[in-house]
Amino acid sequence: MIKHKKYNAVVTGLGMYFPEKILDNKYFEKIVETSDEWIRTRTGIIERRILENGATSDLATRAAQDLLQSAKVSPEEIDVIIVATVTPDMFFPATACLVQDNIGAKNAWGFDLSAACSGFLFAYQTGCALVESGKYKKVMVIGADKMSSITDYRDRNTCILFGDGAAAFLIEPTEDLNLGLQDSLLKVDGSGREALYMKGGGSLNPASHITVEKNLHYIYQDGKAVFKVAVKGMADISYDIMKKNNLKSEDIAYLVPHQANLRIIDATAERMGISKDKVMINIQKYGNTTAATIPSCVVEYYRAGKLKKGDKLILAAFGAGFTWGASYLIWAMD
Ligand code: COA
Repeated sequence: MIKHKKYNAVVTGLGMYFPEKILDNKYFEKIVETSDEWIRTRTGIIERRILENGATSDLATRAAQDLLQSAKVSPEEIDVIIVATVTPDMFFPATACLVQDNIGAKNAWGFDLSAACSGFLFAYQTGCALVESGKYKKVMVIGADKMSSITDYRDRNTCILFGDGAAAFLIEPTEDLNLGLQDSLLKVDGSGREALYMKGGGSLNPASHITVEKNLHYIYQDGKAVFKVAVKGMADISYDIMKKNNLKSEDIAYLVPHQANLRIIDATAERMGISKDKVMINIQKYGNTTAATIPSCVVEYYRAGKLKKGDKLILAAFGAGFTWGASYLIWAMD
């Protein structure tokens, strides 16, 4: 924590959107060689949502509109929009520009942030830093991904894992430094780039009929390799942020982990000495929605009355890059 700072950044509004169409595990039994039993026991996923028409900006817009409505904030009040995503509508303009126009945030600037499954964590830290600077009063941070747009539904190794969705935080300043974001530990290690990536479509392999023929526009993942580093990366950094802030497991109201695999989540909770009832989980309903997992957990638990002002939360993620990190915050909403 920076001792001399004047403002802390607190979450003051929440929004989310998941499309209606559900793909359950039985569906995948029909299209690839898998079983409901395998998917449940190896990942914790039971079903996921799919956006049939539209793009990531539509998911993000619906989450932003839900936030504005529930927080009773008008779009003109928003200063900055940050969209964390690996499935932008287009390379450019940024998805944040499309959301800005869709919601009528006439006074906002914004940008997209690419950090895969750590995207929301990185965007949250970035949004908080803008607020802590004293320059911006209302920053909207959205995690949104239409993972179905880059998923190969012939590949059983990846297709069962992902879903579509979006969720958002509104971040504002407070002079009460005992609330809001207290600390973050964030990391990247690009030496892991070939364990989880989309090979085609960028400047390395621009889209062509060859990249399409070779299926380079889909998620590629070496699941076993990623699993190993994800377990260690997420568990270690969550433990480190606890130690750095002198937190005992009983001090923590909730661990809010990225939802990629229930076994990775369990390993993290175990390392932190946190019981299962203090871990936010929604992977069974949505699968891995990349940037939307952490904020959607928070929205659902808050709306279910399970979060109260003063609760200490650890958010933790691991994703492609590699990217990973943890944030410690004290909840400020009643
Ligand atoms: N249904 C049935 N069998 C499947 C399957 C599926 N959907 N997907 C893979 N398998 C098979 C594999 O082919 C392999 O078979 P083999 O031993 O004959 O080669 C076997 O199951 C075991 O594969 P393995 O990769 O060891 O499984 P796993 O227990 O590691 O689970 C993942 C696979 C993808 C669920 C897991 O590795 C994982 O979650 N990885 C990390 C994901 C992640 O965190 N990503 C980062 C953030 S996005």
